[in-house]
Amino acid sequence: MDEPLRLGVIGLGRAFMLMLPTLAQHPRVRLVAAADPRPEARARFETEFSAQGFNDVAALCADSSVEAVYIASPHQFHVEHVRLAARHGKHILVEKPMALRLADCAAMIAAAREAGIHLLVGHSHSYDAPYLRTAELVRSGDFGAVRMITALNFTDFLYRPRRPEELDTAQGGGVVFSQAAHQLDVVRLLAGSEIATLRAITGRWDPSRPTEGAYQAFLTFANGASASLTYSGYGRYDSDEQLGWIGELGQSRDPESYGAARRGLAAVASPEEEAALKNTRAYGVAKSTAAAATALAAHNHFGPIVVSCDKADLRPVANGVMIYADETRRFEPLAAPQVPRAEVVDELYAAVRRGERPLHSGEWGMATLAACLAILESARTGREIALRDGVSAG
Ligand SMILES: NC(=O)c1ccc[n+]([C@@H]2O[C@H](COP(=O)([O-])OP(=O)(O)OC[C@H]3O[C@@H](n4cnc5c(N)ncnc54)[C@H](O)[C@@H]3O)[C@@H](O)[C@H]2O)c1
Repeated sequence: MDEPLRLGVIGLGRAFMLMLPTLAQHPRVRLVAAADPRPEARARFETEFSAQGFNDVAALCADSSVEAVYIASPHQFHVEHVRLAARHGKHILVEKPMALRLADCAAMIAAAREAGIHLLVGHSHSYDAPYLRTAELVRSGDFGAVRMITALNFTDFLYRPRRPEELDTAQGGGVVFSQAAHQLDVVRLLAGSEIATLRAITGRWDPSRPTEGAYQAFLTFANGASASLTYSGYGRYDSDEQLGWIGELGQSRDPESYGAARRGLAAVASPEEEAALKNTRAYGVAKSTAAAATALAAHNHFGPIVVSCDKADLRPVANGVMIYADETRRFEPLAAPQVPRAEVVDELYAAVRRGERPLHSGEWGMATLAACLAILESARTGREIALRDGVSAG
């Protein structure tokens, strides 16, 4: 039972590049197959992992050497790929957002249940060790009840090269589907309670990138806590400045690279050229390989966050947790990650090998999508949205 999980990958793009150091280095996982329509990605995968590449997702799902799949195809394919994998009895880790419609999430959960397999949603930043440790500290009771969470993140998300549908909200584009999914997961973990109500505004400030680039949301939770969430992907102020220039992936950032994302897009003349530019960051084209991946000094993070409890403010950062109590202030360090994002494989492994109920289950992912949709609805209608059991908006 201690054998590594035999994992097949569906979609070898940017998300896979970000998970590659984890999947290549974690001792509890072995990459045995991948499916992607891009031949250059399949060829690189076959060489690098001595494993089979498939053009067809159904063929990968039918392969008996595959025990679990990591679905990192674009959002719109998640529901179809989850159904296929479940039908073949494979355990599933599907990227966030789980899907674009609640009915699709419900169908994915039902398919997993019927097949008797585990369905997990991730990576999302609520797997990051500093947030898991902060949630543990909150739950310890040492600091009293959690009252108020303040979360913000300023990035250049909107100016990273995109496929056309990533700039169209109706097709899952914009920061609400892709980035609020992380921030909502983190504050839900820290609050330890489901969202009760949500009021939000969204920003669509650049007509050449006609989707949400920013939002602010105010949440109340069933346990009485509240949270304010601020996100801007407009590529100006960068909140990594508040975190010692440690980036989202735990990497060292160069403050002198200011404006790099906008400059990178300056020479792009068409949506096709932009998609091709994005593709240069995908597996099989980008230079980085599993062999080049090295351990990092710090954990992944999703911007500055403060959790205010009755008796202390807790501030998770990329290498630990700052604890501000009444009379004293102290830093609780976390060991540097041996393998980045190891927590994702740990949770999948614990579910599949030990039958442990995952935190990031299908139901969890569905509640996060419900909150993303509630942000869009609240911004559209100007009203506060009530959520029942964290899910049913409206
Ligand atoms: N957790 C994270 O940090 C993170 C980061 C980036 C993306 N993501 C998520 O990962 C998913 C993919 O986003 P991305 O930015 O990697 O996109 P991408 O365009 O870079 O990669 C998608 C990959 O899927 C392949 N693909 C396309 N259609 C397919 C199909 N029908 N079957 C199999 N493969 C197919 C493409 O060839 C490409 O290699 C999205 O849901 C996104 O939200 C998560």
